[in-house]
Amino acid sequence: MGKSIQRDQVTGHADEADGIEEYDNPLPDWWLGLFWFTIIFAIGYTLHYHFIAHRSPQKELAAELAAARVQWPEGVAGAAFVPTHELAEKGEAIFKTNCVPCHGEDLHGKIGPNLTDDVWIHGGRPDDIVRTITNGVQAKGMPTWGPILGPERVKEVAAYVISEHGK
Ligand code: HEC
Repeated sequence: MGKSIQRDQVTGHADEADGIEEYDNPLPDWWLGLFWFTIIFAIGYTLHYHFIAHRSPQKELAAELAAARVQWPEGVAGAAFVPTHELAEKGEAIFKTNCVPCHGEDLHGKIGPNLTDDVWIHGGRPDDIVRTITNGVQAKGMPTWGPILGPERVKEVAAYVISEHGK
């Protein structure tokens, strides 16, 4: 390291710094090396992130949402199921054909529970109801309707159940 420099000389500003005195020594080489490394790394990382890998937080979010939509097709990730009047009208016939034996003509329940009260065993949000109908509750005797009705008709009958809620 070239010509020897005087070490451990105080800077002499203790009076401005609450009595804290400081040595005027150069920073250690390993520390400066690390310092320059972080700067160069940050420049390299930024260039790579934006211009070589073309990454962005928006793209990462979009990819995660797309993966979630594959994993949870009923729209738990973002696109929540919105029941409409039209869906409910189509769902009424589906309910009469498939659900009345267990849930009753008026949905007040027989073997299956009342679907018009505020008590939901498996959740009362539209997405929950679609999910319960799709997957069923085999241990309790609620059939798995997803493969029988298909996703569209499950939504229609779910919309009907929701429209009857509170009646
Ligand atoms: C064979 C009898 C049976 C049929 C048919 C049936 N269910 Fe069920 N259903 C049940 C039972 C039993 C439960 C209660 C499950 C439990 O206790 O976990 C249930 C639960 C439900 C629930 C959840 C209620 C809650 O409190 O979370 C919904 C929604 C539902 N059924 C809708 C339907 C629809 C729509 C149909 C027609 C497509 C249908 N069910 C047909 C027996 C049936």
